[in-house]
Amino acid sequence: MIKSQIEKLLNEAAKSEEIEDKLSCTFSSRPECDYQCNDCFAIAKKMGKNPYEIAENIVKNIKNNNFYKFSAAKPAFINIQLTDQCLAYIAQVFLHDNFCGVNRNKHGQLVILDYGGANVAKALHVGHLRPAIIGESLKRLYKLMGDNVISDVHLGDWGLQMGLTELQLFEEGKLDGYFGKGENKPLTLDDLNEAYPKASLRKNIEEDFKKKAEQWTLKIQRRESPYFEIYQEIRELSVKEIKVNYSRLGAEFDLWYGESTADEYCGEAIDIIKQKGLLKQSEGALVVEVAQEGENVPVTKNGQTTYLNPMPPCLIQKSNGAVLYATTDIATILMRNKLYKNVDRIEYVTDARQKMHFTQVFRTCKLSGISPEKQDLIHIVNGTMNGRDGKPFKTRSGDTIKLEDIIQMLCEGAMKKLKANGVEGGEDEALKIGVAAMKFGDLINNVSKDYIFDLDKFMAFEGKTGPYIQYTVVRINSILNKVNLPAGDIIINNDQVRNIIKAILKLNSSYQVCYKEHSLNNLCASVFDLASAFSSFYNEHNVVNEKDKNVQASYIALLTLVKRCLMQALDVLAIEVPEKM
Ligand code: ARG
Repeated sequence: MIKSQIEKLLNEAAKSEEIEDKLSCTFSSRPECDYQCNDCFAIAKKMGKNPYEIAENIVKNIKNNNFYKFSAAKPAFINIQLTDQCLAYIAQVFLHDNFCGVNRNKHGQLVILDYGGANVAKALHVGHLRPAIIGESLKRLYKLMGDNVISDVHLGDWGLQMGLTELQLFEEGKLDGYFGKGENKPLTLDDLNEAYPKASLRKNIEEDFKKKAEQWTLKIQRRESPYFEIYQEIRELSVKEIKVNYSRLGAEFDLWYGESTADEYCGEAIDIIKQKGLLKQSEGALVVEVAQEGENVPVTKNGQTTYLNPMPPCLIQKSNGAVLYATTDIATILMRNKLYKNVDRIEYVTDARQKMHFTQVFRTCKLSGISPEKQDLIHIVNGTMNGRDGKPFKTRSGDTIKLEDIIQMLCEGAMKKLKANGVEGGEDEALKIGVAAMKFGDLINNVSKDYIFDLDKFMAFEGKTGPYIQYTVVRINSILNKVNLPAGDIIINNDQVRNIIKAILKLNSSYQVCYKEHSLNNLCASVFDLASAFSSFYNEHNVVNEKDKNVQASYIALLTLVKRCLMQALDVLAIEVPEKM
């Protein structure tokens, strides 16, 4: 609203200077202005004129008004300041707007977001943490911005781990009932959690075991009895546990599909690829060549040939007929396009190890037409969460950390903090605070960057942390509960109020930035700025004891607005606020 009004004024003024270019403005974080226009440099270059003069002339042409003050600033910016009247007006409009003034997209897109990736029979581990946190928040951001988003956990439930786990359990005698040797004792989570790691180790040293596990996997994939029934029991048990862990993290999925769901579509996907003449034989397997110009470039040095920018073919079917990870992902895209009409984007969140995989899958889908030309296939690559040594976060003994253990650590950390603050918090509060600490500590970093897991830093009640933002809301609630007065008109009577409204404008502009970047760091930074703007206000003004009733009613309106803006942002970050802390 503000931005487009300012741009309208700028462009009208530019027209009378015979400037043909469209001018635009951006939110400014410089103290001397609220918005700025940086276009005069480029215009001057094109017209062969002095850039500062261009800025001055445009400003001269803008009529004075009650909302915006325009000025030219060296070297060649146009600065725009919002007047108090404008700020008061904005605050009032935002207070009564369902989305607190966030500029939502007019035409929302249909998006499928694939960000869970938990594997059946394997425990969720630290590697699944970031995709769950980032994916959940992106989903909420896109929805706020007007998209229709469907989230799919896309379970890893059709791979070699299934055969490995079953074979291991079989050799331990835990599947005897299925093979006519006595009664079946139901499998337990402990059985699964022990079997997979053992099997995974064995596969690397026992060639026979690996071969056999591959055969078992194929039998499961062919739905042979009893292999498939065992698989179903394992899947059900495992999914129950996965659901508990995701829900503690606040990750909610619309679809609990998996690789196995897509299996039905593998045959059809392979047929389409074949009909397009893309399927090639390679050492008995079926592949699609996906390399583009500039990839797989041979370089020969001392008689040795290596390849620059390697892009191996996409593996579609093994020589034994089994389908692979890529096949199920291609079939999933086919399935999604059959179940939903006009999907605009399909997005995936995983770490960098899957870069090549998604490049191969996306290219195969585009070449074969399984994904329509206008559909965006996007892989959002998350950086890793590292320990203090800068290496991927591990247990003391060097093992991968289970997600469950991290959640436990967060709850314990939060519990300690609550105790130190003399608050009698229960487990519910501790979970909310612990998860907030983790999420904010994660999302304040650019999605693609690595960061260091520092529980003490994340858990602090001061600074750029989740608990600090939660604490701000708790403080506002306590003031609102103490003052029994309806909200009045917002009056701009001091700098602290002014800064709060500017911080809200900044927060609202950050939703657009994040939407474009598929990242949430900008939003986190703006949420923190709003919380600190509130904190400065809180230190200077005593709302509860304010004598002037008009001013007090204005503060109540202001606090209500700040609370709603913070809550809206926290909802996007999937952070809940405890009653007390
Ligand atoms: N299950 C995979 C893993 O744990 C992640 C799945 C990502 N999503 C996908 N559609 N391939 O590595």
